[in-house]
Amino acid sequence: MALSATLAAAIDLVKANVAIVGLCAPLLFLVYLVVVYRRLSHVPGPFLASLTNLVRLRWVLTRHAQHIHINLHKSYGSLVRIGPNAVSVGDPAEIQQIYGLTGNYLKSGFYPVLQPHAKGAAMPGLFNTQDENLHRVLKKPIANIYSMSNLVSFEPYVNSTMSVFFNELDARFVKTGRVCDLGVWLQRFAFDVIGEITFSRRLGFLEGAQDVDGIMHSIWHHFEKAAAVGQIPWVDKLWNKNRLLAWFWPPATSPIVRFATERADERIAKSELDDGEMNGRDFLSRFIEAKSKDDKTPDWALTAWTTSNVLAGSDTTAILLRTILYNLLRHPRSLQQLQIELREAADRGNLSDDAVGWSEAKDLPFLDACIKEAGRLHPPFGLQLERIVPAGGAVICGKRLAAGTIVGINAWVAHRDESVFGSNASTWDPNRWLCADEGRRKLMERSLLTVRPRNPFMRGQGLTLRSFLQFGAGHRSCIGKNISQLETYKLIPTLLRKYEVCMMRGTQAEAEANSILDCTCQPSSGVARRKLLVRGTDWI
Ligand code: HEM
Repeated sequence: MALSATLAAAIDLVKANVAIVGLCAPLLFLVYLVVVYRRLSHVPGPFLASLTNLVRLRWVLTRHAQHIHINLHKSYGSLVRIGPNAVSVGDPAEIQQIYGLTGNYLKSGFYPVLQPHAKGAAMPGLFNTQDENLHRVLKKPIANIYSMSNLVSFEPYVNSTMSVFFNELDARFVKTGRVCDLGVWLQRFAFDVIGEITFSRRLGFLEGAQDVDGIMHSIWHHFEKAAAVGQIPWVDKLWNKNRLLAWFWPPATSPIVRFATERADERIAKSELDDGEMNGRDFLSRFIEAKSKDDKTPDWALTAWTTSNVLAGSDTTAILLRTILYNLLRHPRSLQQLQIELREAADRGNLSDDAVGWSEAKDLPFLDACIKEAGRLHPPFGLQLERIVPAGGAVICGKRLAAGTIVGINAWVAHRDESVFGSNASTWDPNRWLCADEGRRKLMERSLLTVRPRNPFMRGQGLTLRSFLQFGAGHRSCIGKNISQLETYKLIPTLLRKYEVCMMRGTQAEAEANSILDCTCQPSSGVARRKLLVRGTDWI
């Protein structure tokens, strides 16, 4: 009797508590939402995005987040709230404050999501560590290897890969008249160059016409996944980088790390076999030398450095190369203007026939303008380069943002700022880099946060070249930009000197069926060039 009374009382108590919780939970949730909303309520943006990061996750999943960001800035202005604690900044004038050399805006939680696994744990690298001390330790011994003064020593590696690239194009397409998927071949080229300069070993993307060990796919998948998960980084910590879980089920080494480690091992074994006969000046041998000179460098640094090269240096350069050629082929006048510039340089004896040299290409103003315009219109990173507002908060675009707020500029947005680049900012116009009036030039210069002039021609124009936002800015900007520029400034003119590239309309099958009739070739410049038919759809 007493037992059933106690039980009944307990059940009543539970019921009352459930009722209280049932009433309070929605109330508490509402209070939580109000608190979340109020944190940045002074920054305009889509209402739902101010309450949950799921909205920006959905934008990324569309694979067109960059266009959504552009439209958001058109609707809401230079500051847009894109998450409960995240703000997208559209005004290039803020580049200096957010990414300036002082480096007091640390990288956000987005970046560790990009860390691949090695030996059961996440392996930080230069690009994806939030820890500034570790960044210093990793960067100091190797920064000089990427310097402009070292650049020419890597030129032979680019030359030998270019030669293989052209042999493959000749054998597979020029001789057979088949239509080439140039986008894919440029990607194979960029991967083989990184293999050559890092490990003195072409990896076989070109010769085998294949994705070696599926690495191109792995890198694509790695970035695609990280772009989405990085919108809600705690999910990654809980699921992918959870130390407790890793203790029970150690995660497999990432295919990208495995790939870089295997290539490094092969290269070391080969140089031992050849008794040091191999070229010792590739990145790997310089990394080994740098590590031996600096005892603060962790043991895993060699793997982190080589992995960084493969991860950060291949797809990015491929995207830039594809964008340049795609736009040149879509804009025959630009292509013709470039052909004329190349022909005139050749007539003056300033352009090698076989492989255009870096020193020859870097001073060609229209080539330079085309490369810059491609990087402006289609920067390889399509999301904000996220940073955290430091202690004390900050005023950005006239609005105060509390410490801890995530802010970032998406280069796609900044590079389309009409007040800087003119009313045609969304369209391809390389001449903007040559013809701008002085006032506009100065504005463009300030907006690009450029480090120092490189090209004497551009210096004369008041334009500077080195790093606009496609390579990031400040002390965390791209360490490999010189390497990627070396590849780009050499490949584009050499390719256009050797081939008359014709873009075919329609699908691959349609293009091949109509390959004689349906071809938009640029006018011949009189130089004997091989005709290369390339597919004309969807390759950037
Ligand atoms: C067109 C080609 C490239 C583009 C557009 C590009 C873009 C970028 C950007 C935007 C950043 C800064 C990211 C941020 O601020 O969050 C970066 C950093 C970096 N890039 Fe590149 N990159 C390119 C080529 C390369 C190459 C060829 C390499 C290596 C050989 C490389 C290695 C790195 C590394 C290691 C970092 C991290 C630097 C640091 O934090 O100190 N990149 N890159």
